[in-house]
Amino acid sequence: MRDAYLRCPRSRKCSCLPRRNARAKTSVPANVPGNPEPWASHREAAVARIQDVCRPQTEAPLRVLAAELVDILSEIPPAEMKDVWWLTHPKVFQDVKALVENYDLGDGGISFPAEHWKKGEYTRHLIEALPGRFNMLVMLWDKDSITPVHSHGGSYSFVKILSGQASEQYFDNPNNDDEDCEMKLTTDAVRNPGDISIINDDVAVHVLGAPKERFVSLHIYLPGYTANWVWDDDKHSKDKHIGHFGGNFDSLPWNRC
Ligand SMILES: [Fe+2]
Repeated sequence: MRDAYLRCPRSRKCSCLPRRNARAKTSVPANVPGNPEPWASHREAAVARIQDVCRPQTEAPLRVLAAELVDILSEIPPAEMKDVWWLTHPKVFQDVKALVENYDLGDGGISFPAEHWKKGEYTRHLIEALPGRFNMLVMLWDKDSITPVHSHGGSYSFVKILSGQASEQYFDNPNNDDEDCEMKLTTDAVRNPGDISIINDDVAVHVLGAPKERFVSLHIYLPGYTANWVWDDDKHSKDKHIGHFGGNFDSLPWNRC
């Protein structure tokens, strides 16, 4: 499946998504009672949307990953892809987890161009955004870049280190407390290539940074989110503001082609 790419008709430089296999297509029910969208058409529309735009050939493994994610998530009716979908659809969650764990095909060359990096900062590079389902992006972290403490807008966050070394701290989500309190550190970890961090807002809020060296990471948010909580420091739970994430990318796939 991974090497069966379709050639994009618009450019000899680009390739589109792999041809979908027959088993995956037949595994999707034609419709689900109570679901406002025809089931198969939702999935086909999602794949067609990804296929519609020419994208860099080097990023084909990441597009395959996105297509496989579409297949896995097609088990969940669109109206149920919210709240605690990972509790109502635990097998889907385990399949997504296994998919991310098994991915080992790198960053698709996104880390190569020098202009993709910013000194002392991190940059975001969109792979795929499927509304109501997931956002997938590659992030490049220059040395000394670091996030504030932040939540993920009710999404499940999957982060995989692709190269380099990261540091990550988890804190109990203070939004669960009414009173102002000290942020409680629960995990202080070094993340190496292949390591995965999987959290939602009930598990933890976190800080990710590059104190020792550059690193590259893959991020998948299920579903994608546009607003979250950002804390001013890692001390006081009440010192926070709303952050905005949607559409804020340093490069888009069709601009990298
Ligand atoms: Fe995060």
